[in-house]
Amino acid sequence: MVARKPKVIVTRKLPDPVETRMRELFDAELNVDDVPFTRARLADALARADVLAPTITDKIDAELIAGAGEKLKLIANFGVGVDHIDIPAALAKGIAVTNTPGVLTEDTADLTMALIMAVARRILEGAQAVQAGTFTGWTPTWMMGRRVTGKRLGIIGMGRIGQAVARRAKAFGLQIHYHNRKPVSSRIAEELEATYWESLDQMLARVDIVSVHSPHTPATYHLLSARRLKLLQPHAIVINTARGEIIDEQALADLLAQGKIAGAGLDVFEFEPTINAKLLKLPNAVLLPHMGSATLEGRIDMGEKVIINIRTWMDGHKPPDRILPQML
Ligand code: DGY
Repeated sequence: MVARKPKVIVTRKLPDPVETRMRELFDAELNVDDVPFTRARLADALARADVLAPTITDKIDAELIAGAGEKLKLIANFGVGVDHIDIPAALAKGIAVTNTPGVLTEDTADLTMALIMAVARRILEGAQAVQAGTFTGWTPTWMMGRRVTGKRLGIIGMGRIGQAVARRAKAFGLQIHYHNRKPVSSRIAEELEATYWESLDQMLARVDIVSVHSPHTPATYHLLSARRLKLLQPHAIVINTARGEIIDEQALADLLAQGKIAGAGLDVFEFEPTINAKLLKLPNAVLLPHMGSATLEGRIDMGEKVIINIRTWMDGHKPPDRILPQML
């Protein structure tokens, strides 16, 4: 139990209602100017805080964690992905790490569907043509995309977000296929009429659209390697709203440029915020600035989750969204 208000250092600007609540509850040091923390500033925050509330833009490695102060007991991440934090190093030093699962599921699934539709139906190209004044009237053969209904969607990672995508996709008439560490429960499989593929390679060769929804871990780094991307059919579309590192981005760009993969919709990038120069030039790649969870409601809910995790810890209990070693 912490009697005084804990020093909570927040590394980025959060939505106003979240910051207001944090000021009420904690000795909160906010980043109202939203200038990303340098490594030195992160080290200073880790040395002084009881709780650090970072985001994906803060790389918290073992060296930084080694320099953390004795007081630091919790890293309450604003976001669900925690691949920017060296979790084993934190846990070994007695620092708990929490994330914000559940509250960004629907928003991320919505954006995934938007990317599927945008790529298959060439929505960006169409909008750009109108803006550029090249739309001179309807023709039977202009701006033809590919029908989505009836196609096979292969979902990699059938957790919360993968399932939310599957529900939407089913309503769009897509057939659901998935690869996961283990099959989902029979109730969910029946609801989604989903086909499980233990072999990712076999699934890739048979689907029309592949969408990535697994966390980035050492096991999923470049899961879609050059070899696996080459298993896709030439009309296939690749969607990624999870983490860029899961796809070999250079190989994807090359295959898109060679017409060996038809299109890609990417909200995340391997070297974010740097984007592969080849990808930027491709008309068949729809690229978004990591905005899967970017709704006002979602970001406020994420902030509330951060607050609940910190308050639970303050009350001497285990925070609900702790990252446990078996999750890694
Ligand atoms: C998440 O919550 O993981 C988003 O991708 C931002 O980090």
